Amino acid sequence: MGLPSDHTAVVGAGAEAADWLGERVLRINAALETHIASRKSAHASHSRLLAAVEYSVAAGGKRLRPILVLETCAACGGDDTRAMPAALAVEFVHAFSLVHDDLPAMDDDDLRRGKPSNHKVYGEALAILAGDWLLAEAFGLLSSDRNGSLSAAYARALADGTLGMIEGQAADIEGQERDVSGSLVEFIHERKTARLIEACCRMGALCADAPPSLQEGLGRYGRHLGRAFQIADDLLDCTSSTEKLGKRTGKDANASKQTYPEAFGLEQSRARAEREINQALKAVAPLGAKGDRLQELARYVIARES
Ligand code: IPE
Ligand code: IPE
Ligand code: MG
Ligand code: MG
Ligand code: MG
Repeated sequence: MGLPSDHTAVVGAGAEAADWLGERVLRINAALETHIASRKSAHASHSRLLAAVEYSVAAGGKRLRPILVLETCAACGGDDTRAMPAALAVEFVHAFSLVHDDLPAMDDDDLRRGKPSNHKVYGEALAILAGDWLLAEAFGLLSSDRNGSLSAAYARALADGTLGMIEGQAADIEGQERDVSGSLVEFIHERKTARLIEACCRMGALCADAPPSLQEGLGRYGRHLGRAFQIADDLLDCTSSTEKLGKRTGKDANASKQTYPEAFGLEQSRARAEREINQALKAVAPLGAKGDRLQELARYVIARES
């Protein structure tokens, strides 16, 4: 399952978009598979741990984050092949965040990407460890670039994104005990989702050795896109179906989560997501036609149905 096959219609740019997105997802999936296979052969004694890792990495998903790494690199004139380790690293951090997010101590979800959650198959202990493995391996991947200063800059960007995500997840859990508040929702979403998406765009720009002003512009693009992405996720939780999303719906309200629809209502939430996307589009306007695919991805984020 990947972004193009499921979302060609909502991307709205017809066959051309399907082509480039399809090519991206195939390349990313192949690189993820190759990497996990090489780690499996090197760690044969921990086969069940690696099976748990593989279960969550190979389980599909839209691959939005690695696509953003590759596309921001390409938009800045860089060689996107070189950005692949960074793209895989971000997908590993994302997969780790999902495995832990579903644990009974967190959101207690039994379904992810249309399949039983990791802990439902491998048990809680291995699910925790699979997440830990993915996080450590992500930073290992970043050290593979021969350019030491690029590796260091990648590591800083990914650490900032990951720390933001973890901080946001902590606030999300604690927020279940508090009255819903617009400012708290903004605080949580900015961290749990937007920071990692911002890191994707910064890493792509870093890989292309983009000038600082462009790095900042793409960071801004990622942050606005990330905010809109989580607003859309909140909206889908209350308007879509388990079949379409591959994860349970209606869970946020039951769990007293701090969400946009709870804080602002459906209409205002949609309007806020649109505003964020307009800001994202503005941030990549200076790229001109080189930013076309980033603009397409931005529109997709709020039009998506899963
Ligand atoms: C789900 O992310 C978690 C959020 C930050 C909302 P995605 O919707 O990108 O999940 P996959 O990777 O496509 O399954
Ligand atoms: C999770 O947000 C964000 C993460 C950092 C994983 P949600 O808890 O809303 O994500 P889903 O809806 O379970 O995918
Ligand atoms: Mg959660
Ligand atoms: Mg969740
Ligand atoms: Mg959600």
